[in-house]
Amino acid sequence: MHTLAALARKGGVGKSQIAINLAVVAAQNGLRTLIVDVDPQATCGYWMELREQEAAEAENKAKEYEARGDKKAASIERARYPKLELGVIEISQGRMDHHISRIQASNEVDLLIIDTAGKDGDVSIKTSKLADYVIIPTSPSAQDIAAIATTMDVVQNTRTPAAIVINDGQPNSNESAEVAEYFRDPEGLNFEINDDYHVADTYIHHRQPIRHAYRVGMGITEYEPDGRAAAEVRAVYNFVAAKLNALQAQNQKLKKAS
Ligand SMILES: Nc1ncnc2c1ncn2[C@@H]1O[C@H](COP(=O)(O)OP(=O)(O)O)[C@@H](O)[C@H]1O
Ligand SMILES: [Mg+2]
Repeated sequence: MHTLAALARKGGVGKSQIAINLAVVAAQNGLRTLIVDVDPQATCGYWMELREQEAAEAENKAKEYEARGDKKAASIERARYPKLELGVIEISQGRMDHHISRIQASNEVDLLIIDTAGKDGDVSIKTSKLADYVIIPTSPSAQDIAAIATTMDVVQNTRTPAAIVINDGQPNSNESAEVAEYFRDPEGLNFEINDDYHVADTYIHHRQPIRHAYRVGMGITEYEPDGRAAAEVRAVYNFVAAKLNALQAQNQKLKKAS
């Protein structure tokens, strides 16, 4: 199993949005996926609550259609919320080590995604230690970029491989690419200090449907599977999945050698 974390010492940069949308892609790909929500605001927990409510409503509607003999409409309604192996649990920051280690040892989950509030330094360090890989989302805004340095310190101190993912940039502009260059540049923030630290070369732009999807408890790849936002989220998922698989292969090699 893999443990992924969305980490940034800043609110509003897209940690929860990315955690939810990557989790949905993973579950759609057949992985048993669990989000561990350690943020007291419980953005992911609330999303799952919305999902359950909406799915129950869709089921009620489907039954009404069936009662009227309209099987086609009933099956369309049910297909909106297919049953995925996807869960969210909310846990307190004080107990996160205990619970997450237990889940990691259980073999019942293929992908665990930790979402944090990010403000608390201790929680960030704990999260980074528990994760195989960390995604550090940032918007292209100067304030958010400035806040990245502390998160970079966390992942480098715990020696957890990580990637910066640029989120919420202006579509159809060079903004995201320019920020990516700044993170790479040895005279900028120089995050790509070695092979474990990357700036994802695939961006999630500011896309309104991402917000709409959240409101109805869906991932963007369910809400608008053929849209641009879904394509961007899938690209980030593929980037992260490739890193996780490479790490696993590396660990297996090390185990064999020892
Ligand atoms: N790429 C995006 N396009 C549109 N809205 C976004 C995007 N990323 C995040 N948002 C919105 O910005 C707000 C903050 O995102 P969120 O994931 O909750 O941030 P964090 O978890 O880092 O605090 C939310 O309302 C979310 O829907
Ligand atoms: Mg959040």
